[in-house]
Amino acid sequence: MWEKIWNQEKIAYGGDYNPEQWPEETWEEDMRLLKLAHIDTLTLNVFSWAALQPSEEEYSFEKLDKIMKLAKDHGMKVCLATSTGAHPAWMARKYPEILRTDIHGIKRKFGARHNSCPNSLVYRKYSVKLAEKLAERYQDFDNIAAWHISNEYGGECYCENCEKAFRIWLKNRYHTLEELNRAWNTSFWGHTFYDWEEIVLPDLRSEHMSEEETAAQGISLDYRRFNSDSILECFRLEYEAVKKYTPEIPVTTNLMGAYKPLDYQKWGKYMDFVSWDNYPSNEDSASQIAFHHDLMRGVGDGRPFVLMEQTPSQQNWQPFNALKRPGVMRLWSYQAVAHGSDAVMFFQMKRSVGSCEKYHGAVIDHAGHEHTRVFREVAELGAELEQIGREILGSVSAAETAIMFDWENWWAIEYSAGPSVSLKYKDEVLKYYEALHSQNIPVDVIGEGDDLSRYKLVIAPILYMTKPGVDERIRAFVSQGGTFVTTYFSGYVDENDLVVIGGYPGRLRDILGIWVEEIDALPEHKKNEFIYGGQTFEAGLVCDIMHLEGAEALAEYQEDFYAKTPVVTRNCFGTGSAYYVGTRSEKGFYQKLLADICSQSQIMPAAKVPEGIEAVKRVRERETYLFLLNHTEEEKEILLSEHGTDLIAQKTYQPGENLTLPPKGTAILRHRKSVEK
Ligand code: GLA
Ligand code: ZN
Repeated sequence: MWEKIWNQEKIAYGGDYNPEQWPEETWEEDMRLLKLAHIDTLTLNVFSWAALQPSEEEYSFEKLDKIMKLAKDHGMKVCLATSTGAHPAWMARKYPEILRTDIHGIKRKFGARHNSCPNSLVYRKYSVKLAEKLAERYQDFDNIAAWHISNEYGGECYCENCEKAFRIWLKNRYHTLEELNRAWNTSFWGHTFYDWEEIVLPDLRSEHMSEEETAAQGISLDYRRFNSDSILECFRLEYEAVKKYTPEIPVTTNLMGAYKPLDYQKWGKYMDFVSWDNYPSNEDSASQIAFHHDLMRGVGDGRPFVLMEQTPSQQNWQPFNALKRPGVMRLWSYQAVAHGSDAVMFFQMKRSVGSCEKYHGAVIDHAGHEHTRVFREVAELGAELEQIGREILGSVSAAETAIMFDWENWWAIEYSAGPSVSLKYKDEVLKYYEALHSQNIPVDVIGEGDDLSRYKLVIAPILYMTKPGVDERIRAFVSQGGTFVTTYFSGYVDENDLVVIGGYPGRLRDILGIWVEEIDALPEHKKNEFIYGGQTFEAGLVCDIMHLEGAEALAEYQEDFYAKTPVVTRNCFGTGSAYYVGTRSEKGFYQKLLADICSQSQIMPAAKVPEGIEAVKRVRERETYLFLLNHTEEEKEILLSEHGTDLIAQKTYQPGENLTLPPKGTAILRHRKSVEK
């Protein structure tokens, strides 16, 4: 049996549709076109608050009633949004407290979107009320696939409401001022607080030198947590509101991949399923896109997710809005499915005539007919997805390797003054991810709090903030035979960004069998070198100077006063091993190191394929779906090792046969295990 993440019988296909921006006479023609493109799911009502509530007392649902009827009459499923991503102008005028204040301390006026203070009681009251009214009104529509709360929650607010709410949040976290003063290390620069009311929020008028630079890491870190929690609270309030009437309908909100301000790993726990918006640029590598899918799947605890938005052709908000080349929309759609999406959704169904998104790609162009390249590509993919039907749905990844990516750790690393301004967490994580991805090693992206026991290999690039319990879990994982890899600047601080004293890497020291005495930061043009496996690789950014405490050196620096001291180490710990990479190196090194580790740990690629082909697996009890995605401009021949049927070409292959993939082509091979007797 397969598990549905939302109301679907096949891979859902559709996206944002805004008929309220168009005369009603055009709606029937839209339906004809969308049907022709095999669209079956419409995300409706994303930005209609001002239309649904013309004033404080009045609500008006007549138009939405018609739109809901239109969708139902045409057999469309609906992903129904609550419209609370942009508040009405009258509300901002009447209740200025709902407007946000930015990090400069400037209070915003009405305008743009995602502009409401998450701690405004007025915003919370009216957003919840609207969500509840929508659920009450449309509860009997059996074609609602899911609730889509607000839209791309994000940003920060630094207003007075937030400052007051921050103090309450802090009281709940620390209980006493004594504990808060300890956690924030306020004895530094005479910051001791004697009254909760003395605490102000950290912005450019108080602790911050710039958005990313703060004099008080503890305070700024807590403000990030608080801001993410405050916005999550808005989501949760609307979640509860719609559940009152429609307990069976799953609820989501569209996330944005590695979006720094919101701790999605915490958010995921409160969402019925994860959905996200994928907007790579044409320059992004297949690995970069894959990483974000894997990250989002991890946020949803490994279950399938929904690709809620992608453009069918181009964006409007990039500096250069390049078109997706022919075949790329299809390829990237299948890539999303390969990594766990049970839907392919677009922004948007129809290009608007005015405002900033009028040149954003859409299924229905300003030309208004089906005779466009983009429409044809959308319709062709739609036909394929229809043919694939309910296959694939509900299947999951079976990765034996995990990479840790943790939001609180991210915040802490990049607030840190030192060792290097060029130290960027996501870059480092991507280096390890890309090395695995380019070798088609399946990867789950997990948080610090996740279970490690189901993996053979866990990689935690820059595990700077080692939260309580994390070192114990890693210790248990390695001592029971797991392989662990971490890097420079790991194990340094606790959850309050307070250094664990006694020598770096703090709580990870015994597991790694090393002591890091000093960290050298190199300017960007300066490099050191080391030899690993007979090859010379560069060392840059930061260079740890360390002593072995049980570990063996796998490589040593070649230059500078620390030449001949270890840079890459391995420690046998229990029945497992722990590797430490004390610097930033280059692609070739990461590929080699991880290939060595994978072969020692018997971690296999999803398939053996030529370069430029991405191979990804989704599995279920009896079926395995092997996705082969050709990201290159050339035709590729792939030698198959198993019997399987390509769900797209509907062709069956025997082991030893070659499969030919055209440029940008995809094959999805279904392998069936024979039933055991
Ligand atoms: C985001 C939003 C959409 C739209 C697109 C444009 O993902 O959710 O409303 O603005 O970007 O790319
Ligand atoms: Zn605020």
